Formats: sequence, structure tokens, C-alpha cells
Amino acid sequence: MLQDSFGRIHDYLRISLTDHCNFRCTYCMPQEEMEWMPQSRLMSKDEVLKLAEIFINLGVKKIRLTGGEPLVRKELPEILEHLSTYPVELTLTTNGVLIHKHIDVLKRAGVRSVNVSLDTLNREKFIKLTRRDQFDQVWENILLLLSEGFRVKVNAVALHGLIEDEICDFVAVTEKLPIHMRFIEFMPFAGNHWKSKKVVTASQMLTLVEEKYPIEKLEDKKHDTAKKYKVPGFAGTFAFITTMSENFCAGCNRIRLTADGKIKNCLFGKEELDLLGALRKGEDVEKLIRLSISRKHKALGGQFDPDYLKANPDQIINRSMIKIGG
Ligand code: GTP
Ligand code: 5AD
Ligand code: SF4
Repeated sequence: MLQDSFGRIHDYLRISLTDHCNFRCTYCMPQEEMEWMPQSRLMSKDEVLKLAEIFINLGVKKIRLTGGEPLVRKELPEILEHLSTYPVELTLTTNGVLIHKHIDVLKRAGVRSVNVSLDTLNREKFIKLTRRDQFDQVWENILLLLSEGFRVKVNAVALHGLIEDEICDFVAVTEKLPIHMRFIEFMPFAGNHWKSKKVVTASQMLTLVEEKYPIEKLEDKKHDTAKKYKVPGFAGTFAFITTMSENFCAGCNRIRLTADGKIKNCLFGKEELDLLGALRKGEDVEKLIRLSISRKHKALGGQFDPDYLKANPDQIINRSMIKIGG
């Protein structure tokens, strides 16, 4: 069991399979940081599986594959199929554009739930944000996932100047489709030009939704990142991920493994321990994992001022989102 010094049990591992992505979202992948990790520094398929196995033996019960974009990793089908033989819930966060090519392997691997990132419903804005003309493919793939019986959460980063006009359109989508919309407060990472004035808080977003719809609060679970709501009678739900205005670290059960095999005990943790290096040298990986968990801070990697919205991004030591995996 992986318990930290605040009594939190860590049983949810997020594995980044690659730092590559077929989109170019600026808030995630800064233009000034376009250097990919060299292949030799990335975990091979067997190393991913070995490290996953060690974590599972330490009590991990859920694994989420992330990236970059996890579906661009060539061995994804083999990795998924192997992981599906382990006693663990498997899931994925993706930009959605390659889902149609992987739908069968997702089903075979027993994946039940997929999180798709989509920040706008407008095709022109989508092109500006991602620098790719793929809105239609992503939307079709969301519908494909639903028709194949997957639980679908859609992640929209709440970008100031964009979300205000669109939030009610996103909520409107949940009327007929059983989608779980999540609006994410914009978070600071290396090179993403975060400023507090760019953050639209959950309470500001809620006010916008309430101007148009009656809403009902749903129950949240202990480890949830999102505070859930619905419009009575609608098929889907909507929620807010409130890292910047009200963190949910007290219920944290998350550990991260970067594509180059470093453990991060927090999304904002600056300390990384090199599990891949230890594995390659035949050293004690389990000991490093326990050490990392024991050093976890109470909240936000110990990097933020208690008034999160005043966080100074220049003082935060971290990777860019694409190199962490979200
Ligand atoms: P579920 O397991 O389905 O609840 O998904 P999730 O919210 O954990 O993961 P997802 O990859 O869909 O991430 C959605 C947003 O939540 C992203 O912006 C993540 O960076 C953010 N997020 C995920 N895990 C954490 C976390 O541990 N801490 C914080 N602060 N944000 C997180
Ligand atoms: N702030 C909040 N969420 C972000 N994501 C990427 N960058 C940021 C950021 N700066 C989201 C992606 C994806 C998830 C893994 O993280 O949109 O849905
Ligand atoms: Fe956990 Fe860190 Fe996320 Fe807080 S910010 S919920 S401690 S990973």
C-alpha cells in the first residue's frame, strides 16, 4: 500500500506513453519547447509493463494512459492488451482524433471509460487552438465511443475569452448525449504563459450556466477531481475541475509516471525520481516509489501560495503539460 504522510492512499497511476502529440495546443505544448525526448530515454513497452506491475503489486488499482497523445504511441495496442491481463482498471485520456483506429483494441482490453479533450465546439476556433483541422473527426469519434457503450468524459480547458461564449453550448450538448463535460480551470505549467487573469473560475462559469439553465448539484466522490452538476432531465452532466480556486488535494490518490520513467508524486511536484534508470541498473524501484510517496506535499506540490490565483508562474518549477501527461 502506498500511503503518504497525510494518510492518503495512492492507488491511481497515470502513465504517460509518449511526449509526442498530433495536435499543437499552445497551453499544453509551448512553441519554444518543441524538442522531443530521445527514444532511448523513453520507457520501452516492456519497461512500461514492468513498472506497471511493480505499482500494481504496491496497491495500484487504476491506470490511466496519457501522453502527449497516448494513441500516437506505436505499441499502444500491445501495451493495452498486456495491461488488460493485470488486475487493474484501465482508462485513457486522449485528444480523440485516432479513436476510430483503436476502438476494437480499447474494447478488447476492457476499457470502459475514455476522457477526450475538446476545448471548443467551433471548427474555426478548434483550428486556431490545436493548429489542426480535425474537429469533425474528434466529434465523430466522441459519438463513436458513445455508440459503442463507453463512458465519455469531455475535458475543456476553460480559456478566458473562449469559454464564456461556449459554456452553455457545451452544457446544451448534454441534453441529448450522455456526455460528462468537465470544464478545467487553466493551470500554470512551464512555458504556457499562464496568468491569473486568464483563469476563469468555476464559480464564474457556474454563474454563466445558471443564467440559462436550472441546475442540480450531484454527489462527488472522495477522489474526484471534478465537482459535478446536471441540468434536470438532461442525459449527461457537467463539472468543474477547480485546481486554481479550490484544490481537491485532500482526496488525492494519484501518482504519475512520465514517458521517460520518472515518478512524480504530484502534478505540481518538482521532485522526480528516476524509476526507469533504477530499473535499467537493477536497483530497488519499489524503494524509490515509497520514498517519492513519503515526500509528497499536502497540496499542489508545495509550490503555490495559499492564494492560488496569485501564484507566480515564474516561481513554479515543473515540466510543460505535454511532458507530464496531465
Ligand atoms: P478521472 O479519472 O476520470 O476522474 O479523470 P481525471 O480528471 O483524473 O483525468 P483527466 O486526464 O481527464 O484530466 C482532466 C484534468 O484534470 C486535466 O486538466 C488534469 O491535468 C487534471 N487533473 C488530473 N489529475 C489531477 C490531479 O491529480 N491534480 C490536479 N490538480 N489536477 C488533475
Ligand atoms: N490547464 C488545465 N488543463 C490542461 N490540460 C492541458 N494543459 C492544461 C492546463 N494548462 C488538460 C488537457 C487534457 C488533460 C490531460 O489536461 O486538455 O484534457
Ligand atoms: Fe494530488 Fe498534487 Fe493534484 Fe493536489 S495537485 S490533487 S496533491 S496531484
